[in-house]
Amino acid sequence: MDIYLGIDTSTTSTKTIAIDQNGKILAVSSSGYSFETPFPLWSEQDPHLWWQATKVSMCECVMKAGIEPSQVKGIGLTGQMHGLVILDEKGEILRPSILWNDQRTQKQCDEIRELIGRKEFIRITGNDALTGFTAPKILWVKEEEPAIFKKIKHILLPKDYIRLKLTGEYAIDRAGGSGTVLFNLADRDWSSNLIKTLGLNAEWFPPTFEGTHITGTLTKQAAEEVGLIEGIPVFGGGGDQAASAVGTGAVKEGIVSLSLGTSGVIFASVDSPFIEPEGRLHAFCHAVPAKWHLMGVMLSAAGSLRWYKDTFRDQSNFDDLLTGTKGIMPGSDGLIFLPYLTGERTPYPDPLARGGFIGITVRHTIQHFTRAVLEGVAFGLRDSYELMKEAGLKNMEQIRITGGGAKSLIWRQIIADIFNTEIVSINSEEGAAFGAALLAATGAGSFASVEQACSSTISITDRVIPGQDVERYNKIYAEYRLLYPALKDTFHRMPDIIS
Ligand code: XUL
Repeated sequence: MDIYLGIDTSTTSTKTIAIDQNGKILAVSSSGYSFETPFPLWSEQDPHLWWQATKVSMCECVMKAGIEPSQVKGIGLTGQMHGLVILDEKGEILRPSILWNDQRTQKQCDEIRELIGRKEFIRITGNDALTGFTAPKILWVKEEEPAIFKKIKHILLPKDYIRLKLTGEYAIDRAGGSGTVLFNLADRDWSSNLIKTLGLNAEWFPPTFEGTHITGTLTKQAAEEVGLIEGIPVFGGGGDQAASAVGTGAVKEGIVSLSLGTSGVIFASVDSPFIEPEGRLHAFCHAVPAKWHLMGVMLSAAGSLRWYKDTFRDQSNFDDLLTGTKGIMPGSDGLIFLPYLTGERTPYPDPLARGGFIGITVRHTIQHFTRAVLEGVAFGLRDSYELMKEAGLKNMEQIRITGGGAKSLIWRQIIADIFNTEIVSINSEEGAAFGAALLAATGAGSFASVEQACSSTISITDRVIPGQDVERYNKIYAEYRLLYPALKDTFHRMPDIIS
């Protein structure tokens, strides 16, 4: 039996999954780490932690799966997107990685818009310059740490640093690469013009590969460190969102995935480089060769519920918390929650956006607050869904929901009602790591295509259809949409007032 491994270098842990040639999951193992916030808005991680955790989780996964190292025929990589990894000529790390959730680069984003022109930047890369993305992080190093900037010889993303450790090769997959916003989206490769205009050096950026293409093979030294054998091919894989979409089967037009994790992501595969003209949706390359995708990212989705529980309902468990909302009427008696607890990306690219409960009265109970959180997150996610429809995406026939929050039927029903669309659950829960393993299995020939890999491994387990509350929610959603614009100036003035 041939075996494939998928490795996910996420923000909180590295997870390795082993699947067989039919896509059956044999074992999963993960090893955790934390990230640093040395200053407000900063978020950094030491890449050595990723490599250490990769070794631990790979060795453990192979052991748990009870397989022989010689059975492993391919490795697929995935990981947190946008994180900046800068290396010197020897491949040594120059500074901690600046992560996707770091918000320090508003000034550099403004400079990019000024230099290139916002519309032109969106035309080339498919995206606006946002603090989460990689390009402004490089400019930040240039301006704030010039001595380090001078030593840069290689630029990678987190998963591609692991690729370097495994194969000795500098390479980036196209899904992840497009998330640097230094790609020409339509060309699926670096935009040399953009790189030059931003004062960067094209030589720092490695060759790019499709998700199912071989980027190198396991070196002798890496093989010894991870308990495998030399020469195993390492495939392109993809950024975590694109690889997750493979893991949920969102690999063709019509199937949309909705991931309800800490952040909330709505992801639609498209057959051509589709751009939302204002750059309010992300437009990146898919990990499926020659496909692209549109994506809306809400920064605090299930993260909002976790914050709410930890802050106000510490003693409850999630089940009790959610069951308690059953008696509350849809609309939470006029209480609306704004989910912008860590700023927002879609539809408001605003690090200073803030959360809120609006419309509190003496009649509201703690259960109203809980239900308002579930509804507010669903309203925020609907914003992305509406943008996709406005951008002209037509056949969004099926929304596949995954992530911790998707386990709650109450939340799934609220989302079905607020979106006025059927929400389906699937049998696949391992997300990005599973997707990366499927990409490797496809690249190695166990499946004819990524689409076939998905259709033969992923199936629907549950369906929730919209109920009688659709109209009521439509009216409340219309009010929800007015709240951020009305409060924006206050959100923006507040940091100065309280500093
Ligand atoms: C996607 C994004 C996050 C990170 C971390 O644009 O920023 O999903 O990839 O998981």
